[in-house]
Amino acid sequence: MKDIASLIRDASVHSSLYADPAIFDREMETIFGQGWVYVGHASEIPRRGDYVRRTMGLEPVLLIRGADGIHVVANRCAHRGNLLCQPERGNRRTLACQYHGWIFSPDGALLDMPLSSIEPDESLHLKRARVDSYNGFVFATFNPSPIPLLEHLGHAARALDRQVNLSPEGEIELRGPWIKHLFRANWKMLSENEADGYHVGFVHDSFTKSVGTPGKYGNILSGEEDRITAVVRYLGNGHTELDYGPTYDRPMTWLGVDETRYPDYTRDMVGRHGESAAREIMRAGPPHTFIFPNLFLAETCLVMIQPLGVGETVNWHTPLYLKGAPEELNRRIMRQGEVALGPSSFLTADDAIIAERQWRALKGSPAWLDLSRGQSRETTTDGGVVVSHYTDETPNRGFWRCYRDTMAQTAQPTL
Ligand code: FES
Repeated sequence: MKDIASLIRDASVHSSLYADPAIFDREMETIFGQGWVYVGHASEIPRRGDYVRRTMGLEPVLLIRGADGIHVVANRCAHRGNLLCQPERGNRRTLACQYHGWIFSPDGALLDMPLSSIEPDESLHLKRARVDSYNGFVFATFNPSPIPLLEHLGHAARALDRQVNLSPEGEIELRGPWIKHLFRANWKMLSENEADGYHVGFVHDSFTKSVGTPGKYGNILSGEEDRITAVVRYLGNGHTELDYGPTYDRPMTWLGVDETRYPDYTRDMVGRHGESAAREIMRAGPPHTFIFPNLFLAETCLVMIQPLGVGETVNWHTPLYLKGAPEELNRRIMRQGEVALGPSSFLTADDAIIAERQWRALKGSPAWLDLSRGQSRETTTDGGVVVSHYTDETPNRGFWRCYRDTMAQTAQPTL
């Protein structure tokens, strides 16, 4: 195993971090095996027994609601490893293995071993993760003594607050389908790209021109760099943000409409937050926030990043549903997600082409990669958030600092 710290400098990283299978395996043990990982939203499993299939790194897990709350357990029988639940989602009061009939409760406890003379004991329970949630967003970890979830989220918790604040009832749900797009590229290329404003004017040039807002989205090719007020932020703990907010000049422009179209919604929001805060929420719209290592909130869409292998990653995407908001507004959010992030959309399809080409090029030719843009003009707030022009590589540099520190940790025994 290479010394990973030696592959990360202040403003450059070595390409083997994307292409070396041994480093990928170590990431699965350390980042996805020991840290907090996003696994789903409470609204996906509203009734007792509801479950959805997810992964934590390469580990198949079930997010399942038991009588006593939400659990995350391995979707792999503790006997000889058979997959317990095959459908993507369903409702099961108990988890019965089809191979030899062992039965587990939703919290992973072994309840019965047919035709066996030994008593079920704890060593035969399903592998269980520690679970916590914030505003309904559920995270899990196999680390037996993790830092508190809120500490891990840090400044990124605001991004989850902003999402629920867009709902007149202060609640969001995941009701839409998940759209999945396979990228033949390393998972970190997707993670880094989420707060990379630098590429937007180039890779998404056709999109910004087609929606008629090249300046707003920052086509730096047009010489408008100094006029653009959008920013990037490094929030700490690997979390990053790209905030177009200051660029929008009218309420609701982030959805391509204005507030006059939704008078009742606007009234509800003002009643809930007060005039000025409501206008700020609606004016700015939620930024693009990446929560390390696998959650991305893109305005009103949610993206999960699922590594499959060193050069294979699945991008899961679904719209957020704002409870209490007009149905037409929620439909618009769904359409916006399809146009922006679906596999046949402008943005994801364009990003996939670049990521796949980049990964193939890096795989064959080891090199140091430059991340120095904007190094001399970033500023740090009192709270420790690093802010810079939205085309700067500030988020990348922060991401890699966190990555280096996380990978330096010794793997602990899992739960
Ligand atoms: Fe599940 Fe044997 S593998 S009961």
